[in-house]
Amino acid sequence: MKFNRQVMNLDEFTIQDLKNYPGATGQLSGLLRDIGLAAKRVNVEVNKAGIADILGEAGKTNVQGEAVKKLDEFANDQIINSLASSIYCAGVASEENDTFISFNDEYSMNSKYVVLMDPLDGSGNIDVNVSIGTIFSVYRRLSPNGTPCTLEDFLQPGSQQIAAGYIIYGSSTMLVYATRRTLQGFTLDPSIGEFCLSHPDLKVPEDSDIFSVNMGYYHLYDEKVRNAVDLFMATDAKQKIYRHRFVGCMVAEIHRTLIQGGIFMYPAFGKYTNGRLRLCYECNPMSFIMEKAGGRSISAGNQRLLDVKPTELHERIPIFIGSAGMVTKVEEALR
Ligand code: AHG
Ligand code: MN
Ligand code: MN
Ligand code: MN
Repeated sequence: MKFNRQVMNLDEFTIQDLKNYPGATGQLSGLLRDIGLAAKRVNVEVNKAGIADILGEAGKTNVQGEAVKKLDEFANDQIINSLASSIYCAGVASEENDTFISFNDEYSMNSKYVVLMDPLDGSGNIDVNVSIGTIFSVYRRLSPNGTPCTLEDFLQPGSQQIAAGYIIYGSSTMLVYATRRTLQGFTLDPSIGEFCLSHPDLKVPEDSDIFSVNMGYYHLYDEKVRNAVDLFMATDAKQKIYRHRFVGCMVAEIHRTLIQGGIFMYPAFGKYTNGRLRLCYECNPMSFIMEKAGGRSISAGNQRLLDVKPTELHERIPIFIGSAGMVTKVEEALR
């Protein structure tokens, strides 16, 4: 019998999707479902942040030199705990931890996947009720199954990602993830507490009228970067008029870009000689997603960002990401 279903939830989708991959073991699907569950737990906390005692600083500084917020800490603990009890994850590296964690119980150690994550992105937005997110990235480990993870498992170039995704806690909560073959968006239906497929096979527009960069640092950018930014600043009313947006949360910038097109740039400046965003936790997963959507992502020297081999877990990197046409224009200005 054929049922006429309106929407599929995340579990149903990942299980249906397995049929497209003969020989698949379902481990990656299982891992994605576990991340989805952790995201729902974080979402509940995010949504009551105003009434629970969870706004504000945790009173610590993390390895990035940033003040840790209580929600940064909550999201980090929640997702690590979920991954630790999952049988599909061998280890995790997080923006909030000094180094990676290897889960050395029998099941986890036999898993082939490791996860890298930014548990709470845009945490400066928490206290003002503006969008925040979670970013994750999945690699196949290089160390043999049955042994503890090694640093090298986590330092693979982004092109080696098996999957990547983000959760945006915005006007609605969405989970967007890419595998090597697909990019899908799910919206949380709060009435049933499930992520439901709402944005199948996402594609980023080739061109758009939105650009996003922190203009406060404009005079600190080098000349080529200023030239790239100037491409989008009309000096004559007859020129194409671009709209400038800057939310202060990479997840929100990338989500808007996926839906409406545009370019998001986070160049190097001043003391941030490699920009501010992290290669492993932020830029690699978002670049994987953007390429899967048909967009592009480059770094300084016009290098494809996904080709960069990380040398350190917490390293930072300049990024220019979004609609292919707009990234190509910026690439010419940076040459
Ligand atoms: P996080 O909250 O995970 O530390 O990341 C915040 C990042 C990023 O999401 C955002 O684009 C950027 O910091 C904003 O930095 P500026 O306000 O310095 O531009
Ligand atoms: Mn941070
Ligand atoms: Mn972040
Ligand atoms: Mn963060």
